[in-house]
Amino acid sequence: MVDIPNVKAAEPIPSQVMSEIIDLMNNGDLFRYNSEGSAAHKLEIEFSKVMGVSFSLAVSSCSAALFLALKSLNLPRNARVLLPAFTFAAVPSSVIHADFIPVLCECRDDYRIDLIDFKEKIKTVDAVLISHMRGHTSDMDIILSECKQADIPLIEDAAHSLGTTWNGKKIGTIGDIGCFSFQSYKMLNSGEGGIFITDNPELFAKAVIMSGAYEHNWIKHQGDQAKFKKWQNKLPLYNLRISNLSAVLINAQLPELNSRIEKGRRNHDFTAEHLNTSPWIFVPKKLTPEERAPDSIQFNLINLDTDEIDLFEKITSQSGLNVQIFGRTKDNARAFWNWQFLPETFELPKTRKMLMSACDVRLPSRLTLDECKAISDVILSAISTIKSGVAA
Ligand SMILES: Cc1ncc(COP(=O)(O)O)c(C=O)c1O
Repeated sequence: MVDIPNVKAAEPIPSQVMSEIIDLMNNGDLFRYNSEGSAAHKLEIEFSKVMGVSFSLAVSSCSAALFLALKSLNLPRNARVLLPAFTFAAVPSSVIHADFIPVLCECRDDYRIDLIDFKEKIKTVDAVLISHMRGHTSDMDIILSECKQADIPLIEDAAHSLGTTWNGKKIGTIGDIGCFSFQSYKMLNSGEGGIFITDNPELFAKAVIMSGAYEHNWIKHQGDQAKFKKWQNKLPLYNLRISNLSAVLINAQLPELNSRIEKGRRNHDFTAEHLNTSPWIFVPKKLTPEERAPDSIQFNLINLDTDEIDLFEKITSQSGLNVQIFGRTKDNARAFWNWQFLPETFELPKTRKMLMSACDVRLPSRLTLDECKAISDVILSAISTIKSGVAA
């Protein structure tokens, strides 16, 4: 029998990079602007190639990328930004940090944006920030067309969507700006880190300056020099740069991206098929235009009362599997009612209902199918124990 894997452990760093890390330790060249052709610059060039975009800006986190994206839009203070209510607390926080007001949109029980609520609320906002939460893509054809019709910018929070496509187009390249995370629980792991991508030279130049390219350090970036000169000294410097150490770690993992995407999808679909054999579990299907790159699985518990849901969490945890039920874990950062820092509150019954029964298990690409089977066995066995009344 296979042991339950530690799903919280991150993706390992390829060992070939050790000599480069030791070089960095020896020469201390951790600051991205210290020398020409830094690891940070190399990451930006390679990431632009991988994503097929003109410009990339590596920064300290995805939250930093989102903040810079919002700041680059030239919106007035207190501009209203529409985002899904199912996301991580750092996302509305980036809106607040940019001096804007988050407006939360309902999400469905398949974790995607409720388009009826979206079409109503888009009439009241100045920008849209789509979090593809846990890598689930909302209908980007409708969202893009609504943004174009309203003539407002669209930012994609693709923290969990590196490698996902929509109608063959890479997620993060559909809106005006895409933002990704390199925090440890993502497809590429540098502990902390993020990246901002765009084809828009104006937005890019502003983001580069604000990220902390002081004086003429913008020379060490991709981009249009005239645009950098235009914004030089006109914008605040928020110093959200990435360090060369984080960049070296990501550069070493980029060649593994395609195989991680394939394995992540394989692990997810295999586990989903097993879980869907239970009448008490619902793993939502992907949308037809979507090709996913999951690093975790989400599923809803069907017809379990609150005591049974609590028992489910307890039994799986006793079996060594960490299952997070978003709405039931105390102070969960993905439950919108815990975001007491928001200036406005929202009644979102659909999202609330989904969060009360939606479960989350990490499935890093490094897991084997036997390990995925062990995970699904723990979940299925916990449900049958509860439903057969043995655990009551
Ligand atoms: C959907 C989503 N967006 C943004 C972030 C923020 O990423 P970072 O930790 O790199 O700031 C996270 C973090 O997990 C996230 O889940």
